[in-house]
Amino acid sequence: MNEAFALGVRNGIPDDIAYLRARHPHGGWTTHVNFGQLCDFWLHVHQSLRSEGAAVETIIADFREGRIDARAFPQRFVPALNQFLGHLDGHHQIEDAVYFPKFRALDPRMARGFDLLEADHHAIHAALESTVASARGLLASLADARAADTHAAAAATLTRLLVRHLTDEEDLVIPAMLEHGERRVR
Ligand SMILES: [Fe+2]
Ligand SMILES: [Fe+2]
Repeated sequence: MNEAFALGVRNGIPDDIAYLRARHPHGGWTTHVNFGQLCDFWLHVHQSLRSEGAAVETIIADFREGRIDARAFPQRFVPALNQFLGHLDGHHQIEDAVYFPKFRALDPRMARGFDLLEADHHAIHAALESTVASARGLLASLADARAADTHAAAAATLTRLLVRHLTDEEDLVIPAMLEHGERRVR
């Protein structure tokens, strides 16, 4: 894959990869005749991943800035992080195994976009593993400010990569479902 389109460096995907985006611009999605349950569900999952990621970041910031103490922090942090990462991992697994192959089968022109999204999933998975490792480090030494810094940086990287990925994925999958009908990818 072209390094310029790597998840960590790109700022959106070009029109030749998101080749249906101009025909189905974001503002018209929900009113399109082919916008159905799967499109709606997809956008809702992405929205909940964004808010779960943001909730974890808020808990980390509250701890680092003294609004949550070391005793209360794990009870808030661990369930929120587990929920977010479990949801994220499960979503990517089903995309890789079930949905992405169906999008690829719609049209050979889909291949470049879905190669890119799959590469994103690998990059996000690596960031997820760094987040888990640094979370363990933090929980093992709550008094160590460096452990909190390390984890905050890892979580921020994961969130930044994920937010870019979700938007770009929506630019590929929603126009494809509007163009071809959701039945073809269900
Ligand atoms: Fe994805
Ligand atoms: Fe997704």
